[in-house]
Amino acid sequence: MTSLVVFWGSLMLVACNASSPTNVPNNASRPVIVTAPIQRQAVPIVTVPPPSQAAQASANVPLPALDARQVARGNQLYAQHCVTCHGAQLQGQPNWATPTVGVVLAPPLNDAGHAWDHSDAELRRAILRGSVGKDPAGNPFMPAFADKLQSDELEAVIVFLKSTWNTQHRVRQLMLSQPR
Ligand code: HEC
Repeated sequence: MTSLVVFWGSLMLVACNASSPTNVPNNASRPVIVTAPIQRQAVPIVTVPPPSQAAQASANVPLPALDARQVARGNQLYAQHCVTCHGAQLQGQPNWATPTVGVVLAPPLNDAGHAWDHSDAELRRAILRGSVGKDPAGNPFMPAFADKLQSDELEAVIVFLKSTWNTQHRVRQLMLSQPR
């Protein structure tokens, strides 16, 4: 069991190195439990963390409107390339968060997942590169899209993903995407 958890933990660390629940500021009504990495992996990231102070501070800044044509194009491309794994509601595969040796299931890309907790650059990288992990037959759990999507198509898919996120997640993701 320990090795299973450690295995899953290492997979999750590969997938989610940009964020950690322990970075989220504490908040009296929704305490954040600071745990060791192994315990943390047991908790699927399906709850909405409290917004960071930076996100709260910027909540008065209007979000840039999304280009409706890009959203529509991204929706088409999603239906063509992504829906089989990530689902019609972007809900991910059933039991995606349940650790299974040798399997990495597609996570949600809507508010229930944490794609919104990755910057634009990280999302581009994730989509262009696909998954690092491979199944026992040697196929990546997510194929690389570097040779399947033109750069404007990649941007359209990402804009489509953004169109499904709530304001809090849009603000958070905008903050993460600012140049530092
Ligand atoms: C064959 C199934 C499959 C297809 C098709 C697929 N994905 Fe994935 N996707 C996955 C899996 C599995 C992961 C988790 C990979 C990992 O953790 O290493 C993933 C992860 C991601 C992530 C990272 C999410 C996060 O929260 O870290 C993004 C973004 C993503 N996919 C977008 C897309 C987009 C956009 C498309 C279509 C252009 C697509 N995927 C097509 C299976 C797929």
